[in-house]
Amino acid sequence: AGNVTFTMIKPDAVQDNHIGGITKMMEEAGFRVVAMKKTRLTEERAGQFYEVHKERPFYGDLVKYMSSGPIVAMILEKENAVLDFRTLIGATNPAQAEEGTIRKIYAKSVEANAVHGSDSDENAQIEGEFFFGADERF
Ligand code: CMP
Repeated sequence: AGNVTFTMIKPDAVQDNHIGGITKMMEEAGFRVVAMKKTRLTEERAGQFYEVHKERPFYGDLVKYMSSGPIVAMILEKENAVLDFRTLIGATNPAQAEEGTIRKIYAKSVEANAVHGSDSDENAQIEGEFFFGADERF
């Protein structure tokens, strides 16, 4: 039981064959996979997903990067899911990420930072629904 968060394994980490290593860290930290799929975002869909950042200077590059190759989207369940997941992945900028975090191990840069994690319960719901229907969650 518990509540949920939403994550994506980003294009670089998928390309570099780290789907298993990253998912293993999530499971070992106590998260259960509720929904999971490999897919590729079009630029339009990536732009919609990151719409909250559309005024930021990095938005255009972010949308191009996130549509540059396949990603793995997941809904994960655990008590205190959103906050505990942010602790597990570490700081957005891998140079500032703590030892043992997913981004410290797998991220290459602020943009190619291996994984996304929802920043609130409300966004976890919105982001999960962006990728998954009710028949895809277990
Ligand atoms: P994510 O958690 O997916 O949410 C927004 C993303 O924007 C973030 O991870 C980063 O990968 C990306 N990004 C690129 N440049 C920056 C920046 N200068 N500051 C914050 N986020 C950035």
